[in-house]
Amino acid sequence: MKRRIGILTGGGDCPGLNAVIRGVVWRASQFGDQVIGIKNGWAGLLTCETIMLDRKSVGGILYRGGTIIGTSRTNLFKEEGTAKLAIKNIAKMGLDVIIAVGGEDTLGAAYKLSRKKIQVVGVPKTIDNDLPGTDFTFGFDTAISIATEAIDRLHTTAESHNRVLVVEVMGRHAGWIAAYSGLAGGADVILVPEYPFTIEEVCEAIRRRHDAGKFFSIVCVAEGAQMVTKKGKEVILSSKGKDAFGHVRLGGIGQVLAEKIEAVTGYETRVTVLGHIQRGGTPTAHDRVLATRYGVEAMNCVEDGDFAKMVALRGTDIVRVPLKTVTKKIRTIDKDFYNLTKVFQY
Ligand code: F6P
Repeated sequence: MKRRIGILTGGGDCPGLNAVIRGVVWRASQFGDQVIGIKNGWAGLLTCETIMLDRKSVGGILYRGGTIIGTSRTNLFKEEGTAKLAIKNIAKMGLDVIIAVGGEDTLGAAYKLSRKKIQVVGVPKTIDNDLPGTDFTFGFDTAISIATEAIDRLHTTAESHNRVLVVEVMGRHAGWIAAYSGLAGGADVILVPEYPFTIEEVCEAIRRRHDAGKFFSIVCVAEGAQMVTKKGKEVILSSKGKDAFGHVRLGGIGQVLAEKIEAVTGYETRVTVLGHIQRGGTPTAHDRVLATRYGVEAMNCVEDGDFAKMVALRGTDIVRVPLKTVTKKIRTIDKDFYNLTKVFQY
């Protein structure tokens, strides 16, 4: 049977998205199915902007970052009528299945669509690695490789100048990027959203290092890390408002932290914000393989008629979990893993 499979990528882009698309297209071609790329996430279902995908058009994209079909943070369920229009357009375009590649928001919308009788398969994506139901999302390995390289580079300049260098990495509600890159790069202080910190404890750790003869320090902080002050727990927000899903824009904790460390300790302190560099560029081999496995398994779900599922990694196996799983609590760092990051703190 020749099915028409619509694929879309939603939310923040992520290295490995193109590998998923390629995996879907190749597997679909083996089943005799046609793949239609829906442009710019859910937005493309409202505008009917599409692009035909075949083996030829996905040639040379495996190692490319970003997504060849574009992405957006368009929320299908924000305004009255948009989901209805999307469902109407799915029928109009003759799409039998939607493969949605995204994080909690994109897959949350996919789940809601599946409740409205649309045949949907989800693929988990986020550099933050915080989606419930899967051990790892693709994009994370690339993000931590970039952040680790940055920390390695910051080490040599920090040491040469006897400075404290604060590096701010992404991680809104979960500190996986900060914890993994901080551990891999040998950061001296690692701060994650799950476990609020006080400026005093950070400064004390740096002072202890100094007293032990280490005159430089690297502090790796997740953008969503919460600082405990007299006012309570504070998250530093950028002044740029909210996105379509109502998420506040984060950013600025690194700067605030650097200023406070310098003021309290007197040690010269600088900040580096890695920002979108963590999401750009070529995916690691690990992410290419994981994304490829996800893409192929998503099409296997289609072939089996196994809808309202999300493909996932459990240990080393690719499995299928109910799409509803993405509506559960995000996967955060547990106490044991957090304690591991503290082992190397003075
Ligand atoms: O969800 C992935 C992510 O990179 C987060 O780590 C970060 O907070 C957010 O996206 C940034 O979003 P945007 O690219 O819309 O500024």
